[in-house]
Amino acid sequence: MSQTRRDGSQMAIIGAGSVGSGVAFACLMRSVVSELLINDFNTKVCEGQVLDLQDAAFVSSTKVRVGTPKECGQADIIVITAGARQRPGESRDELVQRNQDILKSVLDGMQPIKSTAILMLVANPVNVLTCMAQKMSGLPPHQVIGTGTYLDSIRFRVAMKERLRVSESSVHAYVVGDHGDKQVAVWSSANVGGKPLLSFEELQGLNQDDVAHQVAHKAYGIIDLKGATSFGIAAVVSELALCITLNKLSVIPLSVYCPRFDACLSFPVSLGTNGVERIVYPEMNEKELALVQASAEATRKVCSNF
Ligand code: LAC
Repeated sequence: MSQTRRDGSQMAIIGAGSVGSGVAFACLMRSVVSELLINDFNTKVCEGQVLDLQDAAFVSSTKVRVGTPKECGQADIIVITAGARQRPGESRDELVQRNQDILKSVLDGMQPIKSTAILMLVANPVNVLTCMAQKMSGLPPHQVIGTGTYLDSIRFRVAMKERLRVSESSVHAYVVGDHGDKQVAVWSSANVGGKPLLSFEELQGLNQDDVAHQVAHKAYGIIDLKGATSFGIAAVVSELALCITLNKLSVIPLSVYCPRFDACLSFPVSLGTNGVERIVYPEMNEKELALVQASAEATRKVCSNF
């Protein structure tokens, strides 16, 4: 992986809790931008995180400092991690009221937002918050993305890696739709080296629902054990930031407005410096499509309330 960066580029991280600080650390280690700005309404914790991160910056070409909301609004990539976290057993959807209020105050505080910025939502429920940010930020929809089902897709690919003994990066498999309990693992068109996933001998007799359930519930297990997930999502954000700064146009499942379903859902998109270049809808069988449609309807319903 190249460690180059876009000179002069800035990334702002809003929220310095376990996710925000994890994202900052991952981005710092990979030198994804020239400067990282961190902001949190808890100024004491924010300053502590920045001082600690500055100690780690000797292995990086990225500088890190506290940023005001207005400065953060002028960054090239703005990552929103601020929000209530799931309590053990709580679903991501149950966070909606608390996190939409937080998002509104964060976006209001940053206005006017730089017209070319890429706004990245990490807080949950990510599809709904992406939809809200598209309406409130004033940015075009292709510049407003959510981390969506990227991490779920990685979890799915790693589950296949363990069974097939192939790298997860060679497992072309996507989890789409909802980053939550209604997510859909698209088995029907998943493949390794052009060979349909389900035709592999090692996967004969596999209980697909069990695998999909384990993938969808991995975060619950982590939250039960340590209170929050942070490192996986931090790695995801650093990879997305590199795609943006290096204009990689990698195809990654992210929350975006999907005209085909008239809702913000997570589907594979190509991501570069200008944001989303195109949406790629994988081939889905009837069952998978029906599940995605149900989740689109649920998301539309919540989003119509604001
Ligand atoms: C997870 C958080 C990012 O799935 O929702 O780990």
